[in-house]
Amino acid sequence: GRAWTRVDALNETLKDREVLLRGRVHNVRGKGKSAFIVLRQQTATVQVTLFVDDVNVSKGMVKWASALARESVVDVKGLVVHPEVPIESCTQKEVEVVCREIHCISRSDPELPFLIEDASRPDSAFEAEDTQFVRVLQDTRLNNRVMDLRTPANNAIFKIQSGVGTLFREALLRRNFTEIHTPKLIAGASEGGAAVFKLDYMQVGPACLAQSPQLYKQMAIMGDLEGVFEIGPVFRAEDSNTHRHLCEFTGLDMEMTIKEHYDEVLDVLDELFVSMFDGLNERFKREIGVVNEQHPFEPLQYCRPSLRLTFEEGVKMLQEAGEEVDPLGDIGTETERVLGRLVKEKYGTDFYMLTRYPLNARPFYTMPAPDDPNYTNSFDIFIRGQEIISGAQRIHDPKLLAERAEACGIELPTIQPYIDSFKYGAMPHGGCGVGLERVAMLFLNLPNIRKTSMFPRDPKRLTP
Ligand code: 4AD
Repeated sequence: GRAWTRVDALNETLKDREVLLRGRVHNVRGKGKSAFIVLRQQTATVQVTLFVDDVNVSKGMVKWASALARESVVDVKGLVVHPEVPIESCTQKEVEVVCREIHCISRSDPELPFLIEDASRPDSAFEAEDTQFVRVLQDTRLNNRVMDLRTPANNAIFKIQSGVGTLFREALLRRNFTEIHTPKLIAGASEGGAAVFKLDYMQVGPACLAQSPQLYKQMAIMGDLEGVFEIGPVFRAEDSNTHRHLCEFTGLDMEMTIKEHYDEVLDVLDELFVSMFDGLNERFKREIGVVNEQHPFEPLQYCRPSLRLTFEEGVKMLQEAGEEVDPLGDIGTETERVLGRLVKEKYGTDFYMLTRYPLNARPFYTMPAPDDPNYTNSFDIFIRGQEIISGAQRIHDPKLLAERAEACGIELPTIQPYIDSFKYGAMPHGGCGVGLERVAMLFLNLPNIRKTSMFPRDPKRLTP
């Protein structure tokens, strides 16, 4: 095949060389006998020039190039030269390409839903009241998601999002955990409550989409897999129209045997998340910088070992700050944010663990605290005051488990095989579920989970 050069590899060392490029027409200006194309490949841009009377360039060719619709895919063969002044509007400022051949590979519809440059402007561009810039609204972006993904920040966000999953997997494989794949078509709710998508399953009857791999990852532990994890879709039929809820998200789940205390799970998570944050900062330096240009944010502060507070300590901090909280209830989203700010002020970290939640605030399978049945061996983990993880030690006594399920209104027959899996000798165990989109959103301090979900599913959106 022919030798292609990547646009992001174009620099002064290639001066006087002929290169072959494939990219999109980011922008084109025709001026009489000349045309200037900004050629974009992923997030890199370079200026391509055509002058009538240059080698191979005719009047017709300049006219044809000037009329190319933005976003069309073109192949350009040309000479790398040093521009008289740096091309400030391009990422490759030190060079430009004098065009010798240009072919259109795929024409774009000239009616674009929005311009990539409008969709890429920094948030600050819209702060002034008299701003001339067109703001591309979230729904417009999501309705035209493929176009929206072409902005530099979005390209970077989905590389970082991918990194979250990769680093989670790597950290657990290092610890000899086994990656598993559990069914998403299941007989009954895995998290209780009404928030399940119901469907009819062949000749069996009613079924639902898994709200989590919870029951099956525990069953894998009962199958003596010791430590397991899964990266897969999670379905929630919650009518929550918020910045942090989706109806389908990617769950990073893990489950492991424990010997003495559920702190053992927290120890694993501590190392896992610190290595994940370190890994993101190291591997995605460039991408983090790109996101920062459009959506400036403070880098995540975390410490090692991570901060652990009990729920009771959290309640005390909140009460001292004048917040009203029920010490045996759950704390709401807004109160969580307040606690996040208090923790940041006192301990200087954006990442912390809150342990020992009240029984009323946790799902049926959660192990009650041995010293006080009002509390549980459980935890939530937060980034910037928002929940990214919830986890716990699980009940491994089938009798107690059935009692708790019934008390929580679960129809026992739908989960009987799960309860039975603890009948033949059950290892004490615990684990957690992490929302991948939330980790990516909060690591980058983005304002909405739809920014870190490629094709978000929310109560009002099922397409594209
Ligand atoms: O808190 P959740 O519902 O816990 C479970 O699913 C348990 N099975 C976990 C366990 O192992 N005990 O969900 C876990 C995480 C949350 O902390 C949050 O990050 C994310 O999943 N999450 C959501 N993300 C996006 N949209 C939603 N609707 C979410 N609901 C939960």
